[in-house]
Amino acid sequence: MHHFAEREGFEPPEACTSTVFKTAAIDHSATSPRQKYTYFVSLFLYVFFLNDDNILLRLQVIYENVILLKMNTKKNIFYLFCFLILSSFLLSCEPEVPPATPYSIPIPRYFPTNLHIPKDNPLTVEGIELGRHLFYDERLCGYLGSNPDSMMSCATCHVQANNFDVGMNNPRFPDGKTFGLSGAPTPHNTMPLMNLAFNHEGYFWNGLIHESNPNPQQRTLEDVVLMGIIAPHEMNSTPERAVYALKQNPKYPDLFKKAFGTEEINIVRVQKAIAQFIRTLVSGNSKFDRFLRGEEQLTAAEMRGFVLFTTEEGADCFHCHGGSGNPLFTTNLFYNNALSTVFDALLDRYSVTKNSQDIGAFRAPSLRNIMVSAPYMHDGRFKTIDEALEFYNFGLQYSPYVHPLMHKIEQGGAFLTPPQMADLKEFLHTLTDDEFLTNPKFSKP
Ligand code: HEC
Ligand code: HEC
Repeated sequence: MHHFAEREGFEPPEACTSTVFKTAAIDHSATSPRQKYTYFVSLFLYVFFLNDDNILLRLQVIYENVILLKMNTKKNIFYLFCFLILSSFLLSCEPEVPPATPYSIPIPRYFPTNLHIPKDNPLTVEGIELGRHLFYDERLCGYLGSNPDSMMSCATCHVQANNFDVGMNNPRFPDGKTFGLSGAPTPHNTMPLMNLAFNHEGYFWNGLIHESNPNPQQRTLEDVVLMGIIAPHEMNSTPERAVYALKQNPKYPDLFKKAFGTEEINIVRVQKAIAQFIRTLVSGNSKFDRFLRGEEQLTAAEMRGFVLFTTEEGADCFHCHGGSGNPLFTTNLFYNNALSTVFDALLDRYSVTKNSQDIGAFRAPSLRNIMVSAPYMHDGRFKTIDEALEFYNFGLQYSPYVHPLMHKIEQGGAFLTPPQMADLKEFLHTLTDDEFLTNPKFSKP
C-alpha cells in the first residue's frame, strides 16, 4: 500500500488537499439520503487511501464534506464518530514506518563546514546503512551466476584498507591496474573515496562530474554511482539488471522501506543510498589530526618533514596539497604538475574545460592516507611513494603547460637531501588515519 508520502522529495502530494477533493465532489444538495450514505462510504475509503499520513488533514476532509452533505447534526456527529473508530482501527492494522533519522557527519572542528550534500538527498541513518549494503554487494552488477570473476561491487576497486582506493595488494588487480567486467581497462587509475563531502570542484581526475556539466546525467555523486554500474570498464551492466538482481535478495525490501518509506527497489534509490554512504567516508583522525588538536606530539623527524612540506624553500607541496591551514590536504583543484612533456591522456582537465592552460592537468589528490593509496598519479605510473617523491625531487618535466605553482620547475625539482626526503616521508606517514581504514561503520556489513 503506497500509503505514506514518498520521501524522495520531488512533488509535494498536492492531490491530497481538501480543496481539491471538494471540487471533485458531486453536487451534494441533489442527492437522496441513500446516495448520501453511499457517497459517505466512498468518501471514507477515499480519505483512508489518501497518499498522506496526516490524520488531521483526513479529518478535515471528512468534516468539510459532511457539512457539504447537509446532513442533520446528530447524523454528522454519528458519522464522524464512526469515521474515527474505523480509521484508528485501520491505521493500527498497518505498521507505521517511522521516518528515516537525519544524520550529520561527525567532523573535526578545524575542517570546512560547507558540505556538498544535495537538498534532494539528505543523509539519514537508514539511507547510509542501505548504501553500505549496496556498496559491498557483488550483485549490484546484475549478475546472478556463481563465477566470482563475473561479480563486482564498488568495493572490488574501492578497498577500505587502501583508503577506498584499489591498492597494490588487490588480488583481483595486480599492480592496481583495474578493468571492468567487459575486460576493458579503466581510463585512469582508481581514486580514493575519502572526504568527498568536502569537494565542490568536481569528481574524477578531471573534474568532469560537476553541477556545471551540460549533461544532466554527469553532475552529482548520485550520477557517479549509475555511471559505475553501466560503464563497460566497471560493472558493464544496466539499471534494470542491477535492480532485478537486488530484488532477489530478501534483505533489501526492509532496508529500502526503512530508508525511503516503502519497499520499492529502484535505481534512483540505489544511487541515493550509495551516494549517502560515500559522503560519510570522512577521514579526520590521523596522527597529524591529533597533533592539530593538541592531543599528540610529532617526532622531530615528522616535524622537520612538516616544515619541508609547508615551506617554499623546502619541498613546497602545500599550495596544492594543503597543510595545517587546509587539513583536507588538497585544494581539490586541477594542475599540470610537470609529469610529462607529451600529453596523450585524452581525459585530462583540458577535455572538460577546453582551456589550453588545462592541458595535462589533473586533480591534486588528497595526501591523507597516501601511504596506502598506491599506485600513484592519474595513470598509476608510480608504484611506491619513493618513486612519487623522487619525481618531485628531481624528475619534473618542463612544458609550457606546467602550473605556475610548481615553483621548483626551474631547477627540475626540490633537490632535497636524502635525510630531508626521509623526513618528508615520515611526515606523510602521520597522515595515515587507521581509524578510517578500519572503521566498522565503513566495512562490509
Ligand atoms: C573497475 C573498478 C571500479 C569499480 C568497480 C568502481 N569504481 Fe569508482 N572509480 C574507479 C576509477 C578508475 C575511478 C577514477 C575515474 C576517473 O577519473 O577516470 C573511480 C572514481 C570514482 C569516484 C570519484 C572519486 C573522486 O574523488 O572524484 C567515485 C565517487 C566512485 N568511483 C564511486 C564508485 C562507486 C559508488 C562504485 C560502485 C557503483 C564504483 N566507484 C565502482 C574504478 C572503479
Ligand atoms: C602545482 C600543484 C602541486 C604541487 C606544488 C605538488 N603537487 Fe602533488 N600532485 C598534484 C597533482 C595535480 C597531482 C595529480 C597529477 C596526475 O595524476 O597527473 C599530484 C599527485 C601527487 C601524488 C600522488 C597522489 C595519488 O593519490 O596518486 C603525491 C604522492 C604527491 N602529489 C605528492 C606531492 C608532494 C610530496 C609535493 C611536494 C614535494 C607535491 N605533491 C607538490 C599537484 C601538486
